[in-house]
Amino acid sequence: MSNVEAKQVFNPNKEFAKTARIKNMCEYQALQDEAMEDYEGFWGRYAKEKLDWIEPFTNVLDESNAPFVKWFDGGKLNVSAQCIDRHLESRKNKAAIIFEGDRGDVQTITYLDLFKNVNKFANLLKEDFEVKKGDRVVIYMPMIPEAAYAMLACARIGAIHSIVFGGFSAEALKDRIEDAQAKVVITADGAFRKEKPYMLKPVVDAAIDDNSPVKKVLVVERNNEEVTWTAGRDYSYNELIKSKSSKCEAEVMDAEDPLFLLYTSGSTGKPKGVQHNSAGYILWAQMTMEWVFDVKENDTYWCTADVGWITGHTYIVYGPLAMGATTVMFEGVITHPDAGRPWKMVEEHKINQFYTAPTAIRVLHKMGEHEPAKYDLSSLKVLGTVGEPIDPPAWKWYYEEVGGSKCAIVDTYWQTETGGHVVSPLPGATPIKPGCATLPLPGIIAEILDPASGEVAEVGETGYMCITRPWPAQIRGVWGDEERYVKSYYGDVKKDGKPVYFTGDGARYDEDGYITITGRTDDVINVSGHRMGTAEVEAAIKKHPNVAEVAVVGKPHELKGEGIFAYIVLKSDDGVADEVEEVKTINKIIQREIGNIALCDDMVFAPGLPKTRSGKIMRRILRSIAKGEAITQDISTLEDPSIVEKINTMVNK
Ligand code: PRX
Repeated sequence: MSNVEAKQVFNPNKEFAKTARIKNMCEYQALQDEAMEDYEGFWGRYAKEKLDWIEPFTNVLDESNAPFVKWFDGGKLNVSAQCIDRHLESRKNKAAIIFEGDRGDVQTITYLDLFKNVNKFANLLKEDFEVKKGDRVVIYMPMIPEAAYAMLACARIGAIHSIVFGGFSAEALKDRIEDAQAKVVITADGAFRKEKPYMLKPVVDAAIDDNSPVKKVLVVERNNEEVTWTAGRDYSYNELIKSKSSKCEAEVMDAEDPLFLLYTSGSTGKPKGVQHNSAGYILWAQMTMEWVFDVKENDTYWCTADVGWITGHTYIVYGPLAMGATTVMFEGVITHPDAGRPWKMVEEHKINQFYTAPTAIRVLHKMGEHEPAKYDLSSLKVLGTVGEPIDPPAWKWYYEEVGGSKCAIVDTYWQTETGGHVVSPLPGATPIKPGCATLPLPGIIAEILDPASGEVAEVGETGYMCITRPWPAQIRGVWGDEERYVKSYYGDVKKDGKPVYFTGDGARYDEDGYITITGRTDDVINVSGHRMGTAEVEAAIKKHPNVAEVAVVGKPHELKGEGIFAYIVLKSDDGVADEVEEVKTINKIIQREIGNIALCDDMVFAPGLPKTRSGKIMRRILRSIAKGEAITQDISTLEDPSIVEKINTMVNK
């Protein structure tokens, strides 16, 4: 019989807490108090303690041009050296990366190997591709060690990488290349998925034409399938790397030099290039690894994300390596050959911390409820989740069946823009509640505010999740669009008359001051823990010549968290001749414009959309219809109130 109830509280494992970095709530509170009393002192102390500076910083925080802030001004360092060079003395032969391929092939890369590989890669980019400090390099790669080498090689020479998730289409890749004005793309022929080769290089070929800013493409040969080579543009990594020296001086970077861009969805059709800079980002990546996962020197840590998302950046590559940990990288699919795959990997690699998304937990639960029991999972100490709220059944299974009711579950709340966790339990200190991200991490002043008054929200009231002081790992800008940065994040909520960072999420406090995230307040949906802008999907669907209007909303989905529901009005008013054919065509357009991740779960060909007299589409009504809820909104002010009933009958008849 299960003893997990949604409202229950689970105290940290006492044995675990004894050696945890933060051992109890008093220690947590002391850190939080220290930060509140002397914010700059707190961060300055950690920046000195945790980072190796080439030149020390002279100022902790410069807010004079807020919301454009500077952290650790005057300081000089190199992020790749933070992640590699400084570990060589004591961790040369320690595994930095354990790579497990789709087909079960395992490769252990020590810190010394990593040093050599990254240095060679950096020399290749410099010598053969003329990549210089400040240049943008797009990385479109599968989950193979070379993806990490590519990131760190860029960091080593001061180039700004922009990873595009391998599931994005040629059009999406092209847009991101153009927005960043990247001169180089690093890709692979392809990789393996479910023991079969799949391809990436053809997508890159389709994304680059004569007008592209990309002049050179580096191709890692992973699956050795046939690809087209464009002479003078495409080069084999496997060939060029052979002659490269394994010593490349790390570029001396300012604390605020950009480290990477990562495009994410917003409320318009155009993704935003979220910019992260060097020192503040790497500091918080390391600190949260240490606090939230509490990884110890001999531990092995595995995060199942893809490097194409922020979780892969911070918690597969930068965070673990900055602290000198062993990080597992997995090329395959967690349900292949069966839903026991991750648990087999936990047993084989003796994994101590396992970090994944609720959507993966739901799928693993559904496909293999009893799989965890078949493996020795006793090495596990901390389980993490990220990307969306975790529902009680998934939480319960994760806690009991995977964690053996002895591991803390850290429900980490954060986003691409925050760089690292902002609200999360600490595994040795925080009593946890299923589905609750609990409390702000020390040093993070996260508050739920009433958007109208700017006051802190009352217990139980849903307000806006805000961060009311700058923090080191925060977004520094939207690439090429200063105004969009200010408008997107500092336009909605004011506290004491001053604009504060708004995450876009709703949240509420419970009676213990714990924070539960209630979901996005904007037109962004969360599909399998990934952000998808409804405007982006709408823009793709509108490319169909026969589409007059479209509105896309999110709808709860058993496995994905949220699915995509599209209401489409066609130009021809004689109805849809062949609905099945139209759906296929529209899906092809979505695949071409964005990729499979944006495919709609439901499409309805509606006679019209519910609009106000000023022409605003009432998405709330469409969301209710998609969910099958009763319509409680006042529809009398709509341009055509009868449309609501018509659509409702089509969807819920
Ligand atoms: O809505 C929140 C949700 O995911 C959004 C961030 O998405 P992205 O930038 O793609 O980064 C995902 C990985 C950090 C947030 O605005 N979200 C993230 N973590 C949680 C969450 N919602 C509830 N609980 C979480 N733990």
